[in-house]
Amino acid sequence: MTQQELTALAKQAAERAYAPYSHFRVGAALECSDGTVFTGCNVENAAYGLAICAERTAMVKAVSEGHRDFSRIGIYCADAEDFGMPCGQCRQFMAEFSLDMEVIVGRPDGEVLVRTVRDLLPYAFTPADLPT
Ligand code: THU
Repeated sequence: MTQQELTALAKQAAERAYAPYSHFRVGAALECSDGTVFTGCNVENAAYGLAICAERTAMVKAVSEGHRDFSRIGIYCADAEDFGMPCGQCRQFMAEFSLDMEVIVGRPDGEVLVRTVRDLLPYAFTPADLPT
């Protein structure tokens, strides 16, 4: 799958966002090493602090279906003109599973920005930092 195809899936997922408070619709498409793709959207709540981001929705869906080996994640913000970068919580959540995962952020003009999780979260705290 091309980078554009992955961000296109993220764009479709953004259409399913439940964002009645921020009106900021985000979608994610998480590709596992075996090629399986899990999509996610942001899901907000009247208790605002309970909102979950699109990226974490996709990762939780994958883990709960037995997938932990992530290779790439496409992200698309339907209501942003520029790249909508993943928040700090989502970067930390990604780092739990892979610092090498590619983060591919799409923009309405079709441009993509590609970075690794390691790029986006330098000096990350990971499971390797915990005593065994
Ligand atoms: N949001 C995401 O889904 N992903 C991010 O990485 C940044 C923020 C969502 C959370 C909330 O529903 C809305 O965007 C506004 O912050």
